[in-house]
This record gives sequence, structure tokens and C-alpha cells, in this order.
Amino acid sequence: MALSGLFLIIFLVTHLVINLLTLFPSKDLFNDAAHFMATNPVIYAMQYVLALGFIIHIGMGIKLTIQNKMARSKNYAYNQMSKNTDISSRSMIISGGLVLVFLVLHLRDYFYQMKFVGLPEGTTDYDLVVNLFTNPYYTGVYVASFIVLGFHLNHGFKSAFQSVGANHKKYNPIIKAASVGYSITIALGFSTIAIFHFINQYNFS
Ligand code: HEM
Repeated sequence: MALSGLFLIIFLVTHLVINLLTLFPSKDLFNDAAHFMATNPVIYAMQYVLALGFIIHIGMGIKLTIQNKMARSKNYAYNQMSKNTDISSRSMIISGGLVLVFLVLHLRDYFYQMKFVGLPEGTTDYDLVVNLFTNPYYTGVYVASFIVLGFHLNHGFKSAFQSVGANHKKYNPIIKAASVGYSITIALGFSTIAIFHFINQYNFS
């Protein structure tokens, strides 16, 4: 669970950096990066690893939740979940489920469109990304999903380090701070892209 989570944490940074290129006035910057990602054989192979990472992560998440529920039904006095876990920990399965709903929508919008349907004549990858955010509801759903993702990551980041044994009294505050920093960067970074393109369609200059 932790290793697949750490892998997804790294994927999100790469994905964010590439998508941030759409904020630059030149379309070529993003289109060239997207082309490189789509044609490089190593990156191509990584897509399968990524898919496997998601499947393992989701499967293990469901299994852990069921195991926790069964352990809780024994009702030990010293194992009151509401007292020894925080809200974000208990809501991991809910936030994870919402991120999964977003992911299905997102893969249909971009991955499926680019890989299986093909882009309309004269349209580039950049146009596909930007055009989706001309819809206010769509932009809203994406931004709401990024906020949920931020909460999911904040708890996930900390626990991933704990699970691989990298927790120590001395380093825990650093891991906690890095976790908050990482989650905010991801949620804010992706939201900036969506909101920027939504506002940019009105060409205020
Ligand atoms: C503003 C936000 C985002 C934009 C503009 C965006 C854009 C894209 C695009 C253009 C692709 C297709 C790439 C290709 O197949 O060549 C893609 C794929 C994908 N996105 Fe996103 N994305 C965003 C946020 C996210 C988030 C938050 C997640 C995860 C929770 C995510 C997960 C994925 C995955 C798993 C794929 C398929 C793998 C891949 O092709 O790299 N994306 N995204």
C-alpha cells in the first residue's frame, strides 16, 4: 500500500510539472512534452507500471478498510477508532473513492480521447486540455476533486513513510510538514491550471 502510494506521489509531481507547461503562452511547450511522453518507450512502459500501481493501491485500500472494520466490530475498549485516529485517516476510503470517481472521468476526458478516439482535425493536445476548462461546472468538479485529493494525500504521505519504517520522533515533524507542503502544492498546482484556463478564455487583456 505504502510503496504503491509513494510511486503515485512521484507520478503526481511529474504530471503536475508537465501540465503546468499549459500556463505558458506557447502551445508547443506542452505539445512537445506530451509528444515526448507519448512516444518515449521507457515512459510508455511506465504507463503499465502506473496502472498496476493504481490497481494495487485501490485493492489494498479496500482490503485494509474491511480488515479495520472487522477488527473494530470486536469493540475493544482500548481500540476506539474515533479516539485514536484523526478524521482524515477514517475518511481515507471516502476521499480515495471520490478520487477514483474523478480518475474515471479524467481518463475518459483525456487518456481515452487521445489514445483511442483521436483529436478533432486541427486540434492539439494543448487545445484538448484548455477547452475542457471553458465549462464552469467542469472546472468546479475538477477543483473540488483536487481539494479532496489534497486531503487524501496529506494523510497518505505521512502514513506511507510510517509504513516503510521511516518514522522517528526526530524526523516526524519534518515528515508532517513535508506532507502538508506536498498536498497543498499538488492541490493548488492542479487547481491553478483549471482556474487559469477557465479565466483565460475571457481574454481580459
Ligand atoms: C489540471 C489537472 C490535470 C490535467 C490538465 C491533466 C491532464 C492530463 C492529460 C492531458 C492526460 C493524457 C496524457 C496522455 O495520455 O498522453 C492525463 C492522463 C492521466 N492523468 Fe491527468 N491531468 C490533471 C490532473 C490529474 C490528477 C489530479 C490525477 C490523479 C489523481 C491525474 C491522473 C492521470 C492519469 C492516471 C493519467 C493516465 C496516465 C498518463 O497518460 O499519464 N491527472 N492527464
